[in-house]
Amino acid sequence: EKGGYDHFMLKEIYEQPSAISDTYRGRMRVAEGIIKMAGIDDNLAKLLNAKRIIIIACGTSWHAGLVAEYIFEELVRIPVEVEYASEFRYRNPVIHADDVVIAISQSGETADTMAAIKLAKENRAFVFGVCNVVGSSISRETHAGAYTHAGPEIGVASTKAFTTQITVLALIALKLAERKGTISNSSFHYYLQELERIPEKVKAALESNEHIKYIADTYKNAKNFLYLGRGYNFPVALEGALKLKEISYIHAEGYPAAEMKHGPIALIDEQMPVVVIATKKGHYEKVVSNIQEIKSRKGKIIGIVTEGDVTVKELADHVIEIPETEEFLTPLLTTIPLQLLSYHIAVMLDKNVDQPRNLAKSVTVE
Ligand code: F6R
Repeated sequence: EKGGYDHFMLKEIYEQPSAISDTYRGRMRVAEGIIKMAGIDDNLAKLLNAKRIIIIACGTSWHAGLVAEYIFEELVRIPVEVEYASEFRYRNPVIHADDVVIAISQSGETADTMAAIKLAKENRAFVFGVCNVVGSSISRETHAGAYTHAGPEIGVASTKAFTTQITVLALIALKLAERKGTISNSSFHYYLQELERIPEKVKAALESNEHIKYIADTYKNAKNFLYLGRGYNFPVALEGALKLKEISYIHAEGYPAAEMKHGPIALIDEQMPVVVIATKKGHYEKVVSNIQEIKSRKGKIIGIVTEGDVTVKELADHVIEIPETEEFLTPLLTTIPLQLLSYHIAVMLDKNVDQPRNLAKSVTVE
């Protein structure tokens, strides 16, 4: 059942190339330049006329929502708010009939997300679900939706659900952007081609596994980790930190790289590994100067870089390369080494990777 892997988590990490292509297959027709998604096509006017998109989710799904915020605002130019379902539902939020609410949930059973959906519906918003589990409560409660088609995710720590959620949300953003004319026709076609190449590039990213294992061994006894990223990769930093916390029980924090100087920099010393997502397109120079700040305080730097990088390679203690892609698609690649790093650390510390203490696969309590 684990397909020869030691844990479901590792199997699911390695399933990502096929999970991502299963998610776009049948929806994205690259040669024709078409994205067909029934839940979107049937509600196109509502989505195109949305004054605002409110994304509600919890945990890793909330991180996918944050990535989607950056993608939607950049490509579709609709304002987006991303809310923890638990905060949204309890604070009498302002919801209008011309708001579109997108609820993201792997299990489709998360109690807070479900309650937030009901609240949005009471306020007459249109609610769109992005779920993995077919026929789940959330997929039935929403007005329309799109499944992620990641296949069953058994490991408690979410991996392929996250990357397929981003894939679905990117497809939706591309479709709306094309309809709205907020991206050019040639960009649209190019982005479809780039998305089609992502599974190959995820495969290439997975090839760093042995090197990541070595890095895991080097830092497995650290008490704290910091994860930094900017733009599209700020939510990936949050997700990397969450993965490490969940399965290895090492304290980790994710931060937008530029926020470091407003506090967390005080933590940095020679004991502190700092994972920095420093890919070529995402404010590269700024991230390089963040790395210099860490280095001058003797922090240990693990850089996630674009293939062929030289600048960060010279500064960092370790680099992990990922293939180059369009900036808005980089989270699909930068996430991979962070999943593997947390996996190997947890295994080396002899933790229960697939069923970490205190955690459940679906959180049906409030
Ligand atoms: C993280 C994790 C949790 C879930 C969260 C939401 O690895 O598994 O943080 O992401 O409980 O669950 P869903 O997506 O099922 O609503």
